[in-house]
Amino acid sequence: MTHVTELEHPIVSHKLAILRDENTSSPDFRKTLMELGNIMSWPVFSHLNVTPTQVKTPMEHTTQSVLVKPYPCIVSILRAGNGMADAFSASLPEAPIGYIGMQRDSDTHIAEPYFKKLPDQIEERQIILVDPMLATGSSASQAAGFLKKDGARKILFVCLVAAPEGIEYFHQQHADIPIITAALDRKLDENAYILPGLGDAGDRIYGTE
Ligand code: URA
Repeated sequence: MTHVTELEHPIVSHKLAILRDENTSSPDFRKTLMELGNIMSWPVFSHLNVTPTQVKTPMEHTTQSVLVKPYPCIVSILRAGNGMADAFSASLPEAPIGYIGMQRDSDTHIAEPYFKKLPDQIEERQIILVDPMLATGSSASQAAGFLKKDGARKILFVCLVAAPEGIEYFHQQHADIPIITAALDRKLDENAYILPGLGDAGDRIYGTE
């Protein structure tokens, strides 16, 4: 099963070039991430389930598709995921937002959980799990594991940049979860940062470098 989609689009590439540029300031990085997230949200949301409903316009009755309830939810992997979650939420404010806190051990590069807060009916909702960087795949994989433990059945993982190592690891753990990314990058360096990547996404979003 093909499970990785790279969103190829001139504007996606243009915005990504701004994010990759080391000279892009933190305010510009945040602004561009919001713009890119908005653009990415449309192809991602094309996977959402709809059902026909009856609507009475001022002119006549008609049938129109609406999102299935309970509404899909966005789940952000803290903290860098919040930049993407904000952008996705701007396109779909109906979607509640859950948070999973994961922190990477700087020696082992293994992500450890420290926080989880999810919307109710998680087992019924389509879930869009977001984290800008799929590096080792450890955080995304653990976060997806938490969601499944809570009963989640329909998950999509969305990132900005994915490394082959992260894709392979994530796929081994969660072959059922499609990955949608703005870019497929070359590899990880010895500190598990993505090459060419864009550096530390959390630091660049929040200006904490
Ligand atoms: N997390 C980041 O923010 N950047 C990387 O390159 C890898 C993990």
